[in-house]
Amino acid sequence: MNKQSTTGGMSRRDFAKASAVAAGFAILSGKSGVAQDTVDTLKIGLIGCGGRGGGAVVNCLTGNDNVKFVAMADVFEDKLVARRNDLRNNKNPRVQPKIDIQDDLCFVGLDAFEKLLATDVDIVIHATPPYARPQHLEAIVAAGKHVFVEKPFAVDPVGIRRCIAAAKAAEEKGLRIVTGPQRRYQTSYMETVKRLQDGEIGQILAARAYWNGSLPFCNEREPQYSDLEYRFRNWYNYIWTCGDNIVEQHVHNLDVINWVLGEHPVSVVASGGRAWKPTEEKYGDIWDNFSCDYEYASGVHMLSMARHWNNSQNDVFEEVTGTKGKSDCRNLGKDSSDPYVNEHIALLQSIRGEREYINQGVQTAESTLTAIMGRMAAYTGKKITWDEAMNSDLSLVPTVLDFAQAYPVGPIPVPGA
Ligand SMILES: NC(=O)c1ccc[n+]([C@@H]2O[C@H](COP(=O)([O-])OP(=O)(O)OC[C@H]3O[C@@H](n4cnc5c(N)ncnc54)[C@H](O)[C@@H]3O)[C@@H](O)[C@H]2O)c1
Repeated sequence: MNKQSTTGGMSRRDFAKASAVAAGFAILSGKSGVAQDTVDTLKIGLIGCGGRGGGAVVNCLTGNDNVKFVAMADVFEDKLVARRNDLRNNKNPRVQPKIDIQDDLCFVGLDAFEKLLATDVDIVIHATPPYARPQHLEAIVAAGKHVFVEKPFAVDPVGIRRCIAAAKAAEEKGLRIVTGPQRRYQTSYMETVKRLQDGEIGQILAARAYWNGSLPFCNEREPQYSDLEYRFRNWYNYIWTCGDNIVEQHVHNLDVINWVLGEHPVSVVASGGRAWKPTEEKYGDIWDNFSCDYEYASGVHMLSMARHWNNSQNDVFEEVTGTKGKSDCRNLGKDSSDPYVNEHIALLQSIRGEREYINQGVQTAESTLTAIMGRMAAYTGKKITWDEAMNSDLSLVPTVLDFAQAYPVGPIPVPGA
């Protein structure tokens, strides 16, 4: 059986046990939250200053003391400035005193991430769209920074291999990597998954995972935008920037099933298409529906669906069926805290030696590849094995990113073509 990697140097069960010990995610310090400048004060920088990046900074500062948020990097100045203003105006007493953004540590442009990495920040929060993740994760690890890094990890197998190599390099350097699939830090899921792995519903025979939702966003092109600027500002609609909806969104649900089963799939057969999207630049080249039948080495099949359909029935869930019952992967536990805060408490506790070493890099790379192989199977109309996906030379991100160049959209994938 192909065992899924989870945390560097720990088996899945050891990690589950250690996580359960820490599942209370207590905010350790009883102090007011004011970051006194001590040797223990950890400096944090953000790369990708959008909605999630700003949210993750607030989550990190809410959950931890002796931290200071000091540096920001984004490809666009307006995005950085808007987020900087939001953060400076944050009135939460656990957050506000820890915001200490230095104007000379705010960087804009395609090389902004490199400039931020050259500063003395200790921890990076990485929340760009997925296309940039492999290049940036490599650079973050090379610069010796700990990182909270959002999902998905990449849009193609070449990017996944880069992320796996970066995760392994991080382990050699003792750098911590905590990743964005927050269900891994949601106590209802953590408790349930442990009980499922301990046999609560017997041997697991089948699984389902759905993200059937509506269109997340579709931004109009302004006359002054170059192709590249528009690809970035409307990133959810292009295959090379987001990986398609199965990768960008559904990775959360696929990650849960891989977690429960303790393995990744060995093959997938899939179909899908564009049921409603007009062929317009703003709707990009991604599909709006995927249905996949994943097979695991244990013989389990997972039915997966991912849709962007407005005015339709929305379902986002995971489910496993065993010889003794059924579970939605969270029903055997309780939600007792905010998973988006818990993941940052875990990161800081791990960095400070208050809990085990955490490196979820390979784990999230494998969950992302699970999504990518589903997309590859649907686009080609062919069964795709894990090994084919993992070894594929498919590389979608342009090697040169230049605001003066043309980046045409499409073609929209047609199976068999
Ligand atoms: N875990 C979760 O629940 C969750 C929720 C929302 C988003 N996300 C993930 O977070 C990521 C960002 O999503 P978002 O909603 O914040 O998007 P967003 O568009 O609001 O923010 C992305 C930001 O990254 C910037 N950016 C793009 N390319 C860059 C580059 N090369 N260098 C520096 N900055 C760059 C953009 O200008 C933008 O400000 C996505 O990967 C998404 O999947 C995760």
